[in-house]
Amino acid sequence: MSQQQAVGIDVGGTGIKGALVDIDTGELLSERIKYPTPEGGHPGDIFEVIARIASDCGPVASGLPLGVCVPSVVKNGRTLTAANIATDWIGLEAEKTLEGRLGREIVFLNDADAAGVAEAHYGEAVGAPGLTILTTLGTGIGSALVQDGVLIANTELGHLEIDGEVAEHRSSAVARQRLGQDWQEWAAGLQRYYLHLNRLFSPNLFLLGGGVSKEADHFLHFISLPVPIRIAALRNNAGILGAAFLAHTTRASR
Ligand code: BGC
Repeated sequence: MSQQQAVGIDVGGTGIKGALVDIDTGELLSERIKYPTPEGGHPGDIFEVIARIASDCGPVASGLPLGVCVPSVVKNGRTLTAANIATDWIGLEAEKTLEGRLGREIVFLNDADAAGVAEAHYGEAVGAPGLTILTTLGTGIGSALVQDGVLIANTELGHLEIDGEVAEHRSSAVARQRLGQDWQEWAAGLQRYYLHLNRLFSPNLFLLGGGVSKEADHFLHFISLPVPIRIAALRNNAGILGAAFLAHTTRASR
């Protein structure tokens, strides 16, 4: 049986990384290619880096589905918001524009959504029944809702207001540093946040991702919830894997 493959690219505020992915196993079939995000984070400059990564994946990758995840709400191929990238992404026909440049089909999606899809298919939520909520704690808070393996896109739960404050302004990893909080203080805010999410959505499982998940030993024991909360498994590759997976399934359903 021929191997199913796709290219996944993850656009972040500081780096853009990508790889060729084996869709059946979630393994990377190329090295993990990484370039710095061009200063300003403008679409044209980022598109150039995406094209370079796609070509670095080798000639075998040229006809494969290509998925790109970005820190933005993405609806019908259009990027509607911009976190840590230039504001000229807002309202951009990202899919159509990049497809025109590269002459191939592209699927754009939100970065946290990509991570959620990847965890559901290759990571900590494989086979998880019902609703899984992944939150990525970094500069902001990204969220992904996955119901029985199916993504409900663009939930943006980092933007919920709790006690009159946008959650990501108080509970992201960067907010902890900005506020000078120790792990326990920060975890108290996170606990309040997750309890609120639990009240609204009654998930079966919470996953905590983002760079700070490497430091879970410092804070996870301070968080006590009526449902399990686990550390996401795929770390730095989650966006790449989820983008590739979704590009593959989108192509297959066309
Ligand atoms: C953005 C989300 C993004 C998250 C993580 C938030 O500030 O609103 O779209 O998924 O940061 O990058």
